[in-house]
Amino acid sequence: MALVSGEILAAFREHFSNASIPTIYRAPGRVNLIGEHTDYNLGFVLPIALEMSCYVAIAPASHGQLRIFSRDLDEEFDLATDVVPTASPMHKWHDYVIGVAREIYKLGAPIRSADIWIASEVPTGAGLSSSAALEVSSGLAFLNSAADSVTPERLELARLAQRAESQFVGMPCGIMDQYASVFGQEHSALKIDCRSLTHEDVPLPEGVEIIAVNSLVKHELGTSAYRERVAECAEAVAAIQQADSSVRSLRDVPVQLFQEIQDSIPLLPRRRARHVITDSQRVLDFAAAARAQDVGEMGRVFVASHRSMQYDYEISCEEIDFLVDTAIKLPGVYGSRMTGGGFGGCTVNLVAPGASKEFRERLSNAYHERYSIRPVFYDCVPAQGAGKLK
Ligand code: GLA
Repeated sequence: MALVSGEILAAFREHFSNASIPTIYRAPGRVNLIGEHTDYNLGFVLPIALEMSCYVAIAPASHGQLRIFSRDLDEEFDLATDVVPTASPMHKWHDYVIGVAREIYKLGAPIRSADIWIASEVPTGAGLSSSAALEVSSGLAFLNSAADSVTPERLELARLAQRAESQFVGMPCGIMDQYASVFGQEHSALKIDCRSLTHEDVPLPEGVEIIAVNSLVKHELGTSAYRERVAECAEAVAAIQQADSSVRSLRDVPVQLFQEIQDSIPLLPRRRARHVITDSQRVLDFAAAARAQDVGEMGRVFVASHRSMQYDYEISCEEIDFLVDTAIKLPGVYGSRMTGGGFGGCTVNLVAPGASKEFRERLSNAYHERYSIRPVFYDCVPAQGAGKLK
């Protein structure tokens, strides 16, 4: 159930003795349908924004600090406003918020003292972009408190949120999550071109439900493996440049060119490149199938994407493979794949509307029998991107 402003106002007042009425912002999480690890290679991705969101309530204060309270952790972090521009990351949840404040400061906005109350419905470690939801909602809140001194375009909001994560938090992510959180559309997935930073809406056919399944496991490899993959893609680009010096990123390599020159790329970067290049193409294939209402083809592309992540990009894990392999044998399931950065988190599944009850029951029982964990299911309905809560 989405949080409503009345509850947030009451909780804000209960925590802070601040007589001002806070302004509340919402920014959604996302589920990526297809195109994984293609964003930092400037390829295509196809996420949908979710109803599950992070909420930030902000009101001006006179104590000279940013007082940041997390309802979910029941923890407050305070920092004097004049320290924000030179603060270092502390490897805690508030790094995301401080990183965003710093980026907005760099755009020329003063950092004003404020009380900030935060609550999120987006589960952490699930691959549903809880961090982007926090960054984007905090970004809107700080921009509001900076008043008219700086009013960046919505694209700049996504970009500054991404910079906060890659440069301050230290996770060298691409733009997909923040972009989806800002630009989400009801009824549609977003086909984002990560080179031009533009998108097209891709309406989804009615005869299919999108269900994310949280494995509730997250293997610790996360950030280090992500960094490794970024480096391996750069190695692949360097090798391809020997054959074609005009190539600047894997985006510049169509599938056919890759097939012609792949033998000249050392084996490991070759496999990484094969995943990125074919998955970016699969975004286009999936979008075309969605437009043609061809759910069977959408499902086939999904499974091909999973196999590519499993064998070529090597970012899946046993529990996720089990969820995918079990799901695709169930009646009414068109396709299943891991979503997000990898090594755990969620699968995303395309399920025929009448089949979803049986899908949940049977998948839950099989996973529980194998791992003694009950997975969590989320209905994924495309929702609107970030904004002020009414
Ligand atoms: C994480 C990153 C994104 C993207 C995905 C993988 O969510 O934040 O930028 O690279 O992993 O597709």
